[in-house]
Amino acid sequence: MSRPRIHVPDLPMPDAVLARIAAEFDAVRGGPVPDGVAGLLITPRDKLTPEAIAALPASVTVVATFSVGYDHINIPAAKARGLIVTNTPDVLTEATADIALLLILAASRRAREGEAMVREDTWVGWNPMQLIGWQITGKRLGIVGMGRIGQALAQRARACGMQVHYHNRTRLAPAEEAGAIYHATLESLLPISDVLSLHAPATTATDRLMNADRLAQLPHGAILVNTARGTLVDDDALIAALGTGQIAAAGLDVFTGEPAIDPRYRSLPNVFPLPHLGSATIETRTAMGMRALDNLAAVLAGKAPLHPVTA
Ligand code: 8YV
Repeated sequence: MSRPRIHVPDLPMPDAVLARIAAEFDAVRGGPVPDGVAGLLITPRDKLTPEAIAALPASVTVVATFSVGYDHINIPAAKARGLIVTNTPDVLTEATADIALLLILAASRRAREGEAMVREDTWVGWNPMQLIGWQITGKRLGIVGMGRIGQALAQRARACGMQVHYHNRTRLAPAEEAGAIYHATLESLLPISDVLSLHAPATTATDRLMNADRLAQLPHGAILVNTARGTLVDDDALIAALGTGQIAAAGLDVFTGEPAIDPRYRSLPNVFPLPHLGSATIETRTAMGMRALDNLAAVLAGKAPLHPVTA
């Protein structure tokens, strides 16, 4: 039986994923998508705009993104073209929740300034007020978007003694809520969030969700963490709030325009930045790659996709 012809990006991938591509698929690596290719493995670096979709060879029937987010794909245009689009839910939940917790702690405990002090040899010795941060125990964590990752962060935050509050379009069942306090509106959640963590997808509804007005609704000195998408935050407003102390510190794993981020973030001492590492563990990236390949294999064998994007 001939192996399905797919196009894969010319990017480093986990060995197990590359081995499976070589064993099960006839893969074109990088460059333009040639005619005859039936499936595409893409990443969020590949922007499937309506124009890019229109330019695909007619042979392409399925696009599997190596990510849970699919804001880089114009879904209406893909649907209109009859393309099946799949993503990789579930397998990155724990890794991304870990990074959100890391950012909460790093921002609250001024890890960036502390690390710089050691590396740059400006540490003159302990004093009772050196790089004083803010305890997370007993603080209220506001989670915006209580899906899989939001719930996994809630579990971690409870273990750290935080009180969990959340806003979601719909209230969760009590077992999923696990004691977290539901807020039907952001306006209700923001004023009680000592720490706010964003876990909503990038859509037109969430674009610049955290604007100047909403940042001002947080308690003075709140911590903001974003592991979702940079577009959820208005950079000018956040940078201004970091300057006044309205936001004491931010932990950011995602940025608008990444990797070409707003350069002001690079020098702000109260920003702990990471280069989109949410799912970057070997276990998770392998599982994501396998999940994307499972979807390509199913569709190209004439079966239903396992994780179709239906939005
Ligand atoms: C990925 C992510 O690492 O899956 C997503 O949507 O944001 C990340 O965890 C990234 O998209 C690259 O695949």
